[in-house]
Amino acid sequence: MSEPAFPDFRPSGNAAADPDLYDVENRAIDPAGTLLDAMRDTAPWAGATIVDLGCGTGYWLDHYRDAGEAIGVEPDRRLRQRARRHHPDARIVAGSAEHLPLPDGSVDVVHARFAYFFPPGCDAGLREVQRVLAPGGRLVVVDNDHRHGEFATLLARSAAATPQGRAETTDRWWAEQGAGRREVMSAWQFASRAELESVLRLEFPATVATPWLDAHPDATGLSYGYVLFSVGAR
Ligand SMILES: C[S@@+](CC[C@H](N)C(=O)[O-])C[C@H]1O[C@@H](n2cnc3c(N)ncnc32)[C@H](O)[C@@H]1O
Repeated sequence: MSEPAFPDFRPSGNAAADPDLYDVENRAIDPAGTLLDAMRDTAPWAGATIVDLGCGTGYWLDHYRDAGEAIGVEPDRRLRQRARRHHPDARIVAGSAEHLPLPDGSVDVVHARFAYFFPPGCDAGLREVQRVLAPGGRLVVVDNDHRHGEFATLLARSAAATPQGRAETTDRWWAEQGAGRREVMSAWQFASRAELESVLRLEFPATVATPWLDAHPDATGLSYGYVLFSVGAR
């Protein structure tokens, strides 16, 4: 049976452009597990049903081994097929933030890691996530911290990635939803200089990546701030 298509989703400029390299990036993004610990503390998933919304290559599905059930939801057909190939034991379904193929009140925790929730204009997805959350359930969204860490400096230099006032707009939208906000300082740490260079060039134009690399000739990583926004079931 053919799966539904989601023509309104936006293919990601990084994960869809180079999924292998995006897995290299994912391996580097949380070397001490600080981010994952904060996500777990915000909404524990041991024994619970958890959805990784916009799961991309499926990289994070392996980190939910103690969940009751982990479900990856991904609108991009090519990424979905790749995720299934690389994570054959995982349940990965066609869907998007606006169209979740899951029953009402059936999920305890929803994670969206750099996926869909780039406010404003995320009302449809938030409504749909609320529909599937069980009483006591929680949505946890991972976004970039545009104010703290070396990565934030790079974002600030990349006009396309940070339209004026992006951090303020994002904070305001989440505050209007009654969301919790938590900053997590972590790091990117790569196995080699070549990996750092490749990933920086995936994420940023040469006008941003090259001067930073030239100014940090020995770096194999950088400091990276994340912000977790979280909303409980209504
Ligand atoms: C930057 S990638 C992050 C992938 C994954 N969350 C990770 O951290 O490895 C963004 C993902 O969001 C997905 N996406 C795009 N539009 C979406 C939507 N409307 N609902 C859910 N996911 C969406 C993309 O296809 C892509 O897989």
